[in-house]
Amino acid sequence: MTAEILDGKQIAAAIRAELAQEIADFVQKTGVTPGLATVLVGDNPASVSYVTAKGRTCQELGMQSFQHTLPASLSEQELLELVDRLNRDRQVHGILVQLPLPKHIQESRVLYAMDPNKDVDGFHPVNVGRLLIGEEIFPPCTPAGIQELILRSGTPTDGAEVVVVGRSNIVGKPIAVMLMQKKRGANATVTVCHTRTRNLAEHTRRADILIVAAGAPKAVTAEMVKPGAVVIDVGVNRIGTTESGKPKLAGDVDFDGVRAVAGKITPVPGGVGPMTITMLMRNTLRAARLQVEGRS
Ligand code: GUN
Repeated sequence: MTAEILDGKQIAAAIRAELAQEIADFVQKTGVTPGLATVLVGDNPASVSYVTAKGRTCQELGMQSFQHTLPASLSEQELLELVDRLNRDRQVHGILVQLPLPKHIQESRVLYAMDPNKDVDGFHPVNVGRLLIGEEIFPPCTPAGIQELILRSGTPTDGAEVVVVGRSNIVGKPIAVMLMQKKRGANATVTVCHTRTRNLAEHTRRADILIVAAGAPKAVTAEMVKPGAVVIDVGVNRIGTTESGKPKLAGDVDFDGVRAVAGKITPVPGGVGPMTITMLMRNTLRAARLQVEGRS
């Protein structure tokens, strides 16, 4: 068996076309163009490329992008003042502070300072709480992208065994919460594995849907996967440089090995990545609706 490739690029493009239309309708109806402010502190190459892609996608879809690029020497106080200004700026509907921040800045202070109704990443504790009780406005972008990929690939989740490898606040914990909700595209039985899990393979082999956000290449190999399973690889590992000097990427799943066993599999790059930015765009439109029309 060779797994079907879940093409995140293609699915993301279809959603972006839908969003572009919704954004155009919103602009026509309200006279307001949704705006996203991105904040980048320092020059971490991965962060620079993510923020650039986020700004470009905003413009492609007909939204405004306000990019704030600041030196790594910026003080926490200065960053908090910027967040405060963006909270009050009526042209800015969504705010995204790219993580990680330099070590002298406490991330939680910056995230807590943000207006929860502009927190399009869904990282503010109010939004984390909303997610837990099933009343989310801004589901975090990577988990939202994973859920949308699963939905649009026609994979049933009702009663499915889902195994998540990884317990981060950005991916592992929120995707587990989202897929266990009593909702469409959810209703799964979810197991969360992590670095202290005994006999990881015993768990992963039970999965109908296996979501891997472990942060290490080849964390999941073929013998850890049930034949026919849907495998979602969230990993982004830089494993060298291509001939043209670009970073060479690999996920957390041994793609070639697992492809021979799984039913469906996401590639890296071109799987979850394009979905993540698309969900950020969706959240920004939601934020604009919430602020302009009082509903999302
Ligand atoms: N750094 C890595 N992933 C993310 C993300 O989803 N949002 C932000 N703001 N920073 C990140």
